[in-house]
Amino acid sequence: MKVLVIGAGNMGLTYAEGMSKSKLLNNNNIMVLDNSEEKLKELDEIPYFDAHRDLKECVPSADIIFIAVKPFHAESVFENIKPYTNKEQIIVSVMAGVTIAAMQKMSGLDKVVRAMPNLPAQIGKGLTSFVASAEVSSDEASAVETLLSTTGKSLKVSNENFIDASTGISGSGPAYVFFFMESMMKAAAEMGFSKEDGTTLVTQTFAGAVELFSQSDITPREWMDRVASKGGTTRAALNSLEDNKVDVLIRDAAYAAFNRAIELGEEH
Ligand SMILES: NC(=O)c1ccc[n+]([C@@H]2O[C@H](COP(=O)([O-])OP(=O)(O)OC[C@H]3O[C@@H](n4cnc5c(N)ncnc54)[C@H](OP(=O)(O)O)[C@@H]3O)[C@@H](O)[C@H]2O)c1
Repeated sequence: MKVLVIGAGNMGLTYAEGMSKSKLLNNNNIMVLDNSEEKLKELDEIPYFDAHRDLKECVPSADIIFIAVKPFHAESVFENIKPYTNKEQIIVSVMAGVTIAAMQKMSGLDKVVRAMPNLPAQIGKGLTSFVASAEVSSDEASAVETLLSTTGKSLKVSNENFIDASTGISGSGPAYVFFFMESMMKAAAEMGFSKEDGTTLVTQTFAGAVELFSQSDITPREWMDRVASKGGTTRAALNSLEDNKVDVLIRDAAYAAFNRAIELGEEH
């Protein structure tokens, strides 16, 4: 199997690197194409894939074509690759908001997978949700899932509504966690901790809580009840969060991203 990644930005290189490190593909079966000369000079120095600048040298031989350019470049990319594609090829797109129907129309191809990754993919801890068009066979979908999972975990969803929904949860989600971390770091600074100590306190607390949760089979609410005793410090904090309806605010934030993903999809 040969994979071509179009767009050597954050996401494109993350997937190219993930596939290479996983040893699923030999390095010469991973091709990366970008249109910036400056970027290509850098790519030529990277040993784990073949860098390409000429479409006709790489598009025809690819079994899977990953599209990792910004959504506003989608139309020009599909127009450029069209003369060199064939109906058996599978398009895998990580472009936010570009629907399967739009990609089928722009590319003239039937087999399209729409995926939504998130930032921790860069360190192999990502979550990529994905959905495949009806023309993608279950074996082909499994092959794509294996490739997506080289950057962390993947989740196959049943329709594109869940891609927009997962944008609101996992796609944009790392920023919500950073927001929460920043707020706790600000509180630590106000309490007199140095920036370094505040960062250590907050980072280890997040890492520890997530690990504790992952290693257990109880819910976040059950963990809260375990850690908060009546009249104690944690209960005071949880009461403050609940009184201020922070749960509703977080839900609203997730829906804001979900709705924006739908809007972006309607623009394509
Ligand atoms: N970053 C994330 O966390 C994240 C999460 C979910 C989804 N996504 C999606 O991932 C996609 C890529 O995001 P990114 O952050 O990796 O973007 P990026 O860093 O801007 O990378 C895109 C790359 O593609 C190149 N490019 C543009 N047009 C091209 C063409 N016609 N042929 C070949 N290469 C071309 C760009 O070159 P120029 O710079 O010269 O234009 C750039 O190097 C986006 O659609 C985004 O919606 C990203």
